[in-house]
Amino acid sequence: MLNNIHLIVGARPNFVKCAVLYAKLKESGFNIKLIHTGQHYSSNMSDIFFNDLDIPREDINLNVGSSTHAEQTGRIMIEYEKILFDDRPDLIMVFGDVNSTIATVLAGAKLHVKTAHIEAGLRSNDRTMPEEINRIATDVICDYLFAPGSDGVENLREQGIPDERIFLVGNIMIDTLTGHMDKIAGINIENTYNVKKGEYVFLTLHRPSNVDNKDRLNDIVCFLNRIAAGSPIVFPAHPRTVKNLEGFGLKEELSDNIRMIKPISYLSSIAMIRSASAVITDSGGIQEETTFLGVPCFTLRKNTERPVTVEEGTNMLIEPEEKHIDDIINSSPKQCSIKYWDGNTSERIISVIKEL
Ligand code: UD1
Repeated sequence: MLNNIHLIVGARPNFVKCAVLYAKLKESGFNIKLIHTGQHYSSNMSDIFFNDLDIPREDINLNVGSSTHAEQTGRIMIEYEKILFDDRPDLIMVFGDVNSTIATVLAGAKLHVKTAHIEAGLRSNDRTMPEEINRIATDVICDYLFAPGSDGVENLREQGIPDERIFLVGNIMIDTLTGHMDKIAGINIENTYNVKKGEYVFLTLHRPSNVDNKDRLNDIVCFLNRIAAGSPIVFPAHPRTVKNLEGFGLKEELSDNIRMIKPISYLSSIAMIRSASAVITDSGGIQEETTFLGVPCFTLRKNTERPVTVEEGTNMLIEPEEKHIDDIINSSPKQCSIKYWDGNTSERIISVIKEL
């Protein structure tokens, strides 16, 4: 049996995905070490999630910080390999598609440690996204692939991955969401953020394809200002986005009706999404969370690795164009239910691991 497990986290979405699985693995008697690569390190990009989700502090932090992709990935590999020399687990478990995911899998697989990928098989089919490169490489390398949905399973098969390595287990984000619903319901957004339920748009934006190019970011700012004329917008801004808005001289251009705030905690973020009239985002996880909560989502991207959210009709891929403005201001909620988005994904993963 695979008893000693390294659970790897590095960036904000990883912390969210690990919360329930970590607790349940411990409950099931596995010997778990939580390894934080340090890809995200600011208190509002990292610590706040540990506090919110009651995740015990990491056993080891590699403290790699920010840098270019190659440097960040390389540093994680170098630092994690040192850990592996000292303390070789039976299994390395990674989440999602961030640089920490591929870096640790590469280091581990070369030392012949078994590796498992949670959220395997997602594909945007857009290789200009760094995450897509990370997804493809991670899935090809890992021994065990835990897919959130049947589209993920199909993508893995198309890549030539044999069925013995693929396990359809469901969406781990929903475990965290359903597991914290009581706490989320207890957050008073009206007092904390000075908004009224159903009377604001919630916005997040951080993809390099949207925020790293001045013309593109300018188009988005003009689009948001038009929406803000009809509805207040609350905008917890990612550090990359703040840096670029300032660097391109666009921060002053934002309408007064767009309230830019620091990144907020997981629980606050779900509370704000749940009560928004609509969400505009380029995040992956938020496309899923809005679908689960039935909140209309407008995704500022040409593609999505989460097509089920579009098929369900809660998510729409858009460009920053005039024709979408009325839809966003006047959108209405839609309930949907997706197989395996039930809060039991961690349990299904653990049953598989027990059999390996
Ligand atoms: C990373 C992930 C992305 C995920 C996002 C969630 C990759 C390739 N991308 O993108 O998939 O959706 O995290 O947030 O792994 N910074 C801080 N404090 C921090 C972390 C970052 O100020 O704690 C700033 C730094 O200036 C850094 C920039 O944000 O240069 C970008 O951070 P980085 O981790 O490189 O990528 P993200 O854009 O956050």
